[in-house]
Order: sequence, then C-alpha cells, then structure tokens
Amino acid sequence: MKTLTITRPDDWHIHVRNGALLKTVLPHTAKQFARAIIMPNLKPPVTTVAQALNYRDEILQAVPVGMDFTPLMTLYLTGTTSEADIKLAAESDAVVAYKLYPAGATTNSDAGVANIKAIYPALSALEKYNLPLLIHGEVTDEHSDIFDRERLFIETHLNDIVKNFPALRIVFEHVTTSEAVQFVSASANTIAATITPQHLLFNRNALLAGGIRPHYYCLPILKREQHRLALVAAATSGNPKFFLGTDSAPHVSSLKETACGCAGCYSAHAAIELYAEAFERADALDKLEGFASFYGADFYRLPRNTTTVTLEKQSWVVPSAYGDADHSITPLKAGETLSWKLR
Ligand code: DOR
Ligand code: ZN
Repeated sequence: MKTLTITRPDDWHIHVRNGALLKTVLPHTAKQFARAIIMPNLKPPVTTVAQALNYRDEILQAVPVGMDFTPLMTLYLTGTTSEADIKLAAESDAVVAYKLYPAGATTNSDAGVANIKAIYPALSALEKYNLPLLIHGEVTDEHSDIFDRERLFIETHLNDIVKNFPALRIVFEHVTTSEAVQFVSASANTIAATITPQHLLFNRNALLAGGIRPHYYCLPILKREQHRLALVAAATSGNPKFFLGTDSAPHVSSLKETACGCAGCYSAHAAIELYAEAFERADALDKLEGFASFYGADFYRLPRNTTTVTLEKQSWVVPSAYGDADHSITPLKAGETLSWKLR
C-alpha cells in the first residue's frame, strides 16, 4: 500500500468552540495535530489571559485519554485592548498571539475592531512585546462586494499596517485570492499566511453552481478558479510564508441549512487527508510536510514536532454527520470518498 509519513503536523488556525461542540470536534484535531492555534471568537470573546486559561483547561479536558495535544491560545483584539493587556498576554506562556477581526466580518465578530486606525497603539504594543497579530483580512462595509473584500482589505488597511509596524509579525489568515498571495510573497519575512483545505480544493462553483450548498459557505467566501490556482501554487511552492491553517469552523447543521446560514466549513475530521488530496492533485506531495509540519512552527518560533504520522492511500467515505442529534455537524465532503486515510 502506498503510504506517506511526515512529521506530525500542527493546525495554525482553528475554531473548536466550547460545550458539546468542543467535545465532538476536539478529538478529530487531537488525533492528527500536535498543536493548534485556537481562535478566540466565543460568545463572549476570549479577551483576557484569565479567560484564555479557563478555555485552555476546557479544551484539555476534551482531549481523549492517550492523545497528546497542546492548544495554543489567542486573545481577541478589541477597540479597548490596552498596552497593559498586551503585556500580560506576552508574559503568559499559554497565549501566543492576538486575533484581529474587523467588526462584522464573520461569526462572532461583533466585538471586533470598528476603526482600524484607532487600534494602532495596540499594534505598536504587539510589535513592542513581540506577539504576532493574526488578521481576518476583509473589509466590512456593506457596499463592498463580498468577492472583493479581501483584496480591498489589503489596499485599505494591510499596506498601511505593514508600513507602520515593520517588526510586527502578522499572519494573514485563510488567504483566498491571488492578490493576497502576491502581497504575502512580496512582503518581508514578518508576514505569513495560512491556507485552508477548502480554498485549495474548491472554487465558488462548489458553493453556488447547480444549487446552493451551505456547507461550502465560509468567510472569506470561496473565489474563482484563478484564485484557487494561485493558492495551490503558493501552498505547494515550498515558500515558508505559507502554512497550514484549516479554519475548521463547526456550526450545527440546522444553523447552516437555513435562510440565513452561518459561515464556516467543518474540516477537522479529515484535515490532513484533505490537504494530501490537494497536494497530490498538484503533484506536490513532497511539499506537504514543510507546509503542514515545519513552516508554521518556524514562524511562531516554536520547536518543530519530532514524532510522525502516516497516511495510507486508502479510500474511505466521510460520514454524513458527526455529533448527536442536538449538535449534528455536517463535515466537508460528507458522504463523499477521500483517497488518503490517517493511520
Ligand atoms: O467561515 C468562517 N467561520 N470564517 C470565519 O472567519 C469565522 C468562522 C467561524 O467562527 O465560524
Ligand atoms: Zn477562522
């Protein structure tokens, strides 16, 4: 049987929620990944070190016995985050970064930043205390076309942020456009990006052609094929600025299969297998290990993992749902066949 053994990967961007959903989704991530960057967009958002430590404990309790998994916590940047808050976060071993959501950009982003210029003092503090800033890079004004929002964010905000804070380490999260790939590629080594499996595997036709498929709806939204091709080229290039971040974002199915459905694709059930599929299609399986297991750790200045995982070339059918009747999650590629399986 064909197999692929790589250093155990990490997921540099994930939503694991809390309560019942956390218990359903966390084992999927802990089985595959040694570490994951945990997004702070809970209700209420995780804005303090004390909240992050409580959330971290809840996550650790959901790790199945015998699995070794480390959650890396982030704090939610708001219009009132102070230098003192950032200093405390920098002093905490549990917190590794701050997340910037423009207000209204996505799920639970109401507490996000309405005026980006107004948080420049906080960005200065992040630069001073050497804490990375993770950015959901989309403008949020209602007149901007949803397919243009990432490109407009670069032009309206990101260029200025990068110019004003040259030592600030920034992860442009879940990039979806050729413009974002170009921006990150042309920037200094302080700027990196994560790429999701859905943006490598699908374009917007998966969401909209021949019927509307809510389980392919995430933000930033799937784009045209030319953008998907730019993302595949970046992910498989061996450029260490691009690394794995699933943005796995579980919502119960009833909140997605409705007149106004939530944004988020659930991919944690098969994350590394989905990436393997994308890399194999690009004839670049040899580039998967760097993308999945090395470059993110290097960017965050954490040690690379030393154990391995093995994938087998073996077909399996993705279940139609995970969780119980009250918390049913429809995974990406539900009911479809995948060709790689984690051993
Ligand atoms: O599709 C998304 N879902 N994009 C995000 O940025 C947030 C996420 C979520 O939390 O559901
Ligand atoms: Zn996310």
